[in-house]
Amino acid sequence: MTTEGMRVLAFNGSPRDRRGNTEKILQPFLEGAAAAGAVTETLYLKELKIRECQGCYACHMLTPGRCAIRDDMTWVLEKMLASDVLVFASPLYVFTVSAYLKTLLDRMMILGTLEVKVVDGVVVHPPRFPERKWRWVVISNAGFPERELFEPMEGVFRRFAWAIGGGTQVTIAGMILKGMGELFSVPSMLPNYQWFFDACRQAGGEVVREGAIAPATQAVLDRPLLDVDPEAFAAMSNTFIDLAAKKARSRKTGQEKTQGTAVSG
Ligand SMILES: Cc1cc2nc3c(=O)[nH]c(=O)nc-3n(C[C@H](O)[C@H](O)[C@H](O)COP(=O)(O)O)c2cc1C
Repeated sequence: MTTEGMRVLAFNGSPRDRRGNTEKILQPFLEGAAAAGAVTETLYLKELKIRECQGCYACHMLTPGRCAIRDDMTWVLEKMLASDVLVFASPLYVFTVSAYLKTLLDRMMILGTLEVKVVDGVVVHPPRFPERKWRWVVISNAGFPERELFEPMEGVFRRFAWAIGGGTQVTIAGMILKGMGELFSVPSMLPNYQWFFDACRQAGGEVVREGAIAPATQAVLDRPLLDVDPEAFAAMSNTFIDLAAKKARSRKTGQEKTQGTAVSG
């Protein structure tokens, strides 16, 4: 596979954008992709103006391939069409992607036509840009530990990838789905997870060089961050939440005092 100049476009759908846990997984993945020769870019969905799909179907009925909403999605679609790998990164929000990423996915419906075809007994929309082939990577993290939490999100991407073109346009190159991702928000914990970040880098390189995350790398990525039973996890989480709440309250009190001083002084 020619890797030179391969374009990897990532979307980070976390409202915490660069400060979040999703970013801690996404960036080493992209570092690995860049080291393998790809040109990488991250778009932070929170910073873009992408409105919700209105369901008017103008993009199919009136102006094929052109959405009635004129916003940042116009140039985002152009970037998507110029990319080889799309990385969808989002925290797990109510068992699926964040609202930012869901809005992007809805607006991506324009990538299929409205015609309905049957492929292997399943109804699909033929791709609007059949010459464009993509590899998709899904990255997520959740507060809770179980791998099964991600099943609805995984289903969304597998079905969506299939629905556009019946398997002719999109290949899922791999998924990095991490339970207990809040551990990444504790700076002192990060050195313990060097093995995981290294595997993310390795995965980025493999997607660019081989077209998919290798099974051995996937097995490392799927290892739990901590081996704890539900009772221990609950106790640990409650301690963590108490501490974080105390810190947030004292920060707020500090800010209010500063603002009070500024106003009165
Ligand atoms: C609105 C909301 C919904 C969430 N839903 C889930 C969920 O369904 N399952 C879960 O384990 N964690 C859930 N979480 C926790 C986040 O997935 C977790 O905090 C994650 O580390 C945030 O990643 P980020 O820092 O990149 O935003 C939710 C958090 C919020 C704010």
